[in-house]
Amino acid sequence: HPPVSQMEETSLLRRANCRSKGGASGFKVAILGAAGGIGQPLALLMKMNPLVSVLHLYDVVNAPGVTADISHMNTGAVVRGFLGQPQLEDALAGMDLVVIPAGVPRKPGMTRDDLFNINAGIVKTLCEGIVKCCPKAVVNLISNPVNSTVPIAAEVFKKAGTYDSKRLLGVTMLDVVRANTFVAEVLGIDPRDVNVPVVGGHAGVTILPLLSQVNPPCSFTPEEISYLTDRIQNGGTEVVEAKAGAGSATLSMGLRGDAGVVECSFVASQVTELPFFASKVRLGRCGVEEVLPLGPLNEFERARLEKAKKELAVSIQKGVSFIRK
Ligand code: NAD
Ligand code: LMR
Repeated sequence: HPPVSQMEETSLLRRANCRSKGGASGFKVAILGAAGGIGQPLALLMKMNPLVSVLHLYDVVNAPGVTADISHMNTGAVVRGFLGQPQLEDALAGMDLVVIPAGVPRKPGMTRDDLFNINAGIVKTLCEGIVKCCPKAVVNLISNPVNSTVPIAAEVFKKAGTYDSKRLLGVTMLDVVRANTFVAEVLGIDPRDVNVPVVGGHAGVTILPLLSQVNPPCSFTPEEISYLTDRIQNGGTEVVEAKAGAGSATLSMGLRGDAGVVECSFVASQVTELPFFASKVRLGRCGVEEVLPLGPLNEFERARLEKAKKELAVSIQKGVSFIRK
């Protein structure tokens, strides 16, 4: 990471010590892929989060620049930058939470699965670093295809004997964010007042909004259901096409350790016969505390669920085979 003078290092340590005098010492968070379209705003949000005491920004390019920039923010977290593979282990040592948006994004005409060939290897290498340096960290995987990268991470951790299914989560919250926005538009209400569970996975037909379980309770016409389901499933593609080659969604993306936080996430699951599935999970300081059941589905959702499971099973197996081969 960029040279830090003795004086600066002493002052960083003093700040970190001060903070821990307050009681809880805060989360140590690493972002892998921190210089990218998701990494940079995520780094900014983490630096603004009072629960974060140490923030490590790792990338294979531009990490020093992003680190210098973010580190000038007048908030508590101590920020350090790490550039390239030789610095991966220092970036990961002692981390409580590792968030991974490293890898390539889609261009128009591509599916998320088209990213597998590049991103699978990147995720594998980064997870091998986690095994070595912070095997007890909670890992949030953003890199696509999430339906395969989460099984890849699980296999790397299993191979090393460090796997804890509670600590590995694929980030699918963007599907909920989109669903809330599009449903609110149809209902003519504030999106902050809407909650739509989105289950299954994070690609095309595997993204299954449960419109029969929207909160506040409401009903839709068959046309609205068809429009909303398609729009939510294709929200990512809508952004990829609008950005016309300049990447995918980065700005609509966002662990407190509080009890009782419930969010949708792609996790190891017994909700269906598949080993991984996105559904509502109750989060706690150590990751997943409980995977919640799907609740009652209507006929439309049951049919879509079968379709989602078919594609999801293939994507999961592809990730598993990548490590076991
Ligand atoms: P980006 O290209 O802007 O940034 C990716 C960053 O990863 C770059 O800075 C790049 O240098 C870095 N990188 C590449 N190889 C690396 C390695 N070996 N180690 C560390 N860093 C490495 O892309 P983005 O828009 O930030 O998207 C990143 C990934 O997140 C993509 O795969 C994208 O499809 C995915 N994504 C997922 C969701 C989701 O909801 N799960 C949402 C949006 C994007
Ligand atoms: C999204 O849903 O926006 C991301 O998964 C990025 C993509 O490729 O669509």
